Amino acid sequence: MKPHRIAIFASGSGTNAEEILAYFQYHPSIEVKLLLSNNPQAQALQRAERFRVKTHTFSKAQFRDSYEVLNWLKAERVTHIVLAGFMWLVPDYLIHAYPGKIINIHPALLPKFGGKGMYGKFVHEAVKAAGEAETGITIHEVNEHYDEGNIVFQATCGVDETDTPDSIALKVQKLEHMHYPKVIEQWISKR
Ligand code: GAR
Repeated sequence: MKPHRIAIFASGSGTNAEEILAYFQYHPSIEVKLLLSNNPQAQALQRAERFRVKTHTFSKAQFRDSYEVLNWLKAERVTHIVLAGFMWLVPDYLIHAYPGKIINIHPALLPKFGGKGMYGKFVHEAVKAAGEAETGITIHEVNEHYDEGNIVFQATCGVDETDTPDSIALKVQKLEHMHYPKVIEQWISKR
């Protein structure tokens, strides 16, 4: 068994999950053991299955009021949790079970454009509406509050006057795919 074992949490398309799955497929010391989702329709689930990674889905009650998710993590001896487009607040019991061992990616330069309701296209629309000259990605550790944990890494890209929320989303996604797997690798090696 490899020393570091990841569970990815994803709610949607899962393009970041796919990059992570591919990056760690033959890694000597880090392995993706599980992909968990609150959304049975999430394309992320099929992506994981293609990599022969076990998946589970869960309801809000299972996530908040039971230890089922924690039991899945324990069964696979998961050491680190990676959020990749996961849209629910992580409950306290999970943060206490994995202190400093949960990481998230946010599609803007926190502390700007973060908090409840700020996800996916809403972030890029807000960036455009604010007339920002640049945006980017933030990779941070997860605590009890949305988008407030210790910042591990940021990268920026320019926003031109001709950019739309969709074109901003594409630039940001490129940064996410370029950096997230490598930043996870470095973060795990330090923890
Ligand atoms: C990513 O852009 C990620 O940063 C964002 O959701 C997208 C998921 O895309 N996460 C948040 O907004 C969290 N607040 P993906 O499913 O294709 O990886």
